[in-house]
Amino acid sequence: MPYELKPLTCNPGAISGMSEKIIVSHYENNYGGAVKRLNAIEAQLAAIDWPAAPVFTINGLKREQMVAMNSMLLHEAFFDSLGASQTDAGLATQIDKDFGSFSNWATQFAAMGKALGGGSGWVLLAWSPRDGKLVNTWAADHTGNLAGATPLLALDMYEHSYHMDFGAKAGAYVDAYMNNLNLATASAKLARAKGA
Ligand SMILES: [Fe+2]
Repeated sequence: MPYELKPLTCNPGAISGMSEKIIVSHYENNYGGAVKRLNAIEAQLAAIDWPAAPVFTINGLKREQMVAMNSMLLHEAFFDSLGASQTDAGLATQIDKDFGSFSNWATQFAAMGKALGGGSGWVLLAWSPRDGKLVNTWAADHTGNLAGATPLLALDMYEHSYHMDFGAKAGAYVDAYMNNLNLATASAKLARAKGA
């Protein structure tokens, strides 16, 4: 059963500071491309002769499967993250507990995004069930999510996320992203991750 694109969860015409064109292009070309690539990789994996296949074929396909699958999942988390909404007490209380204040958390999260400007990767706000806490994490090459953790917010720092609107001004893109946080959805994800 091939993977299918999930419908766009944000309204692409209602993200202040970002054009509808870039959101739709990101959804169709980059997210859509990851899903398409994942299906092509899965088809090759389904046809592989496992005992006879060279190790570099197995390694290559499994590595690319991980990259494409996580790119699909993180892009879904990215679009879920857009669409300004207020948090309820669930996420707000947890952020206060783990970061001191919402402002502290936002400062750190935005700084991590800006630090990736000109490079690539993801910045995630993730819930780590091991210690029952929120952690801002860095994820390179669409991989490297904190083991066992659930991403609640995802900031895409690959150039395709901002170049069309912001050119090389990655920092302005991060500021626009921070002004459009869908905190209600993030809080609902936190409640689900906690099993509430
Ligand atoms: Fe992207």
